[in-house]
Amino acid sequence: MRIAFSARVGAAERAEWLQVLREVCPGHEWHEQWAPGEAFDAAVVANPEPGVLQGLRGLRLVQSLWAGVERLLQDATLPPGVPLARMVDPAMNAAMAETAAWAVLSLHRGFFDYAAQQQRAQWLQRRQRLAAEVPVLVLGYGAMGAAVSRSLLALGYPVSAWRRVEPPAGTPGAPGVRLLHGTPALHQALAGTEVLINLLPLTPQTRGILGAPLFEHLPRGASVVNLARGAHLVEAELRAALDAGHLRHAVLDVFDTEPLPPAHPFWAHPRVTVLPHVAALTDARSAAAVVADNLRRLERGELLAHLVDRARGY
Ligand code: NAP
Ligand code: GLV
Repeated sequence: MRIAFSARVGAAERAEWLQVLREVCPGHEWHEQWAPGEAFDAAVVANPEPGVLQGLRGLRLVQSLWAGVERLLQDATLPPGVPLARMVDPAMNAAMAETAAWAVLSLHRGFFDYAAQQQRAQWLQRRQRLAAEVPVLVLGYGAMGAAVSRSLLALGYPVSAWRRVEPPAGTPGAPGVRLLHGTPALHQALAGTEVLINLLPLTPQTRGILGAPLFEHLPRGASVVNLARGAHLVEAELRAALDAGHLRHAVLDVFDTEPLPPAHPFWAHPRVTVLPHVAALTDARSAAAVVADNLRRLERGELLAHLVDRARGY
């Protein structure tokens, strides 16, 4: 098959991607450049420049190397009607579960406070609490939210997870995780939450969800961990809630503007921990295996995996 490849990354990373994709998906022709209207069977893309796929003929699959596809969906030139698949990679889910476990453990055990104390050469032991005393609420129970919930449950935290809809009857359950949907259930759960983790996709419904109206439902002293997208968060409202002492700490991996500008107040905020969008990077080898599987399905005319519902936005 002829595959169009486009990735908005540095030249070295692009070369590495192509090398791994060629190794893991042998027998296909991979192209980085094309003429207007050229025909391809599939496009494999990583956060591509808007318009890059415009006018390509014959496409039967657009496969994203990123889990979140909101930028692709915002590109009005994305060929209409072509199935769009997102990245669902076990290695990425595991990385996300590690990041969430680190954040929750650090908040629960006061490790961010101890790091600050070290700056002041301050020897102060804080009260130690059980994981069972620290309720965690995960927004989103998809590939990432489910992996995170399972790992936190294994560490002993009481975990609730919020999703858009109630799963159809007969869907395998989530042993130990309290699953919720709907706004009243969310508000009720927020009131009993100590650590809130966001793993929602960015859609018109979820944009700005981490803002003052939601923070008001959290008890005083709760913390917020945003591992999904910067536009979920209303930055000024988070700062206000932290500065008023309503929220205790925020762990932020994603931002409205990335890279986070050097003068941004979050860098120096004593109760914000900044990560440079690394909660779960795409692992080239394992992601290439996911791509290979979908290309195989395409060749055989089988059902494609991890398809995005364009109308739903994820
Ligand atoms: P996913 O499998 O599509 O799961 C999405 C979950 O969100 C589902 O449980 C869905 O509910 C729920 N949801 C969607 N809209 C909702 C709404 N309006 N109200 C309540 N729940 C809603 O996505 P994923 O693979 O877990 O990834 C989630 C996001 O993580 C990605 O979109 C991306 O933005 C982010 N991400 C970040 C990094 C990083 O390094 N920081 C890496 C990878 C991904 P249903 O179950 O009812 O459908
Ligand atoms: C990273 O943020 C992704 O969506 O894959």
